[in-house]
Amino acid sequence: MERICGKHGQEISTHELIASAAAYPDVLIDLGTGDGRFVLRTARAHPVQYVIGVDACRDNLREASRHAPSNALFLIANALALPNDLRGLASAITINFPWGTLLTGLLADDTPLWATLASLARAGAALEIRLNGGALAEAGWTLASGGQQVRRLARAAGFHLAAPRALTAHDLRACPTTWARRLAFGRDPNALYLTGTYTEVHMDAARMATDQERYNLWHAHSR
Ligand SMILES: C[S@@+](CC[C@H](N)C(=O)[O-])C[C@H]1O[C@@H](n2cnc3c(N)ncnc32)[C@H](O)[C@@H]1O
Repeated sequence: MERICGKHGQEISTHELIASAAAYPDVLIDLGTGDGRFVLRTARAHPVQYVIGVDACRDNLREASRHAPSNALFLIANALALPNDLRGLASAITINFPWGTLLTGLLADDTPLWATLASLARAGAALEIRLNGGALAEAGWTLASGGQQVRRLARAAGFHLAAPRALTAHDLRACPTTWARRLAFGRDPNALYLTGTYTEVHMDAARMATDQERYNLWHAHSR
């Protein structure tokens, strides 16, 4: 995969990725990470967690990636077409205020995103999704119908999500992402929070074979 450090992109191998993450008991993957603020704040607040931010757009990540602490990593990738490198690494996954294909990927019946989320998750991994009401409306959903649809697709993919909760301006101000702040101080703070866990691990033959190799690699590097 391609990691970004300031102006430069460089290839990071599966081996390097697993070896870096294996030094930490917890791995958080933030999809659609934007300018990386959430990843930097989380990595600094939780030095025992390895925090990986993924976004399709590199320009917004130049600054944050230049200041990344050793437990943070920024990757450039389309969340709907992630390579296998991150498979089974995540003890937590966050998606904060998605738009574009990341949002439609969460809402449509026929996209690969939910299968990808399931492939990233360890058993029991936490999933947190924050949805912007304005972006949902542009995609043709209300907060209520969008929340229900995400919950339904999550269940089919092996995640159990609790009933969605509306986020107040106060909640948004406390959430350390740039878009949470924009919404909190905008005219109509209108957002939804869904949280839950991954309750299944779907094992096909290919996953079993590669998982065994990855397991060996992980244990060779974990402290
Ligand atoms: C509204 S911004 C939110 C950024 C950040 N999570 C925040 O809360 O400040 C949505 C982000 O999703 C990213 N995005 C949209 N579709 C994507 C995809 N298919 N794969 C990866 N990132 C995507 C965009 O590049 C953008 O940075």
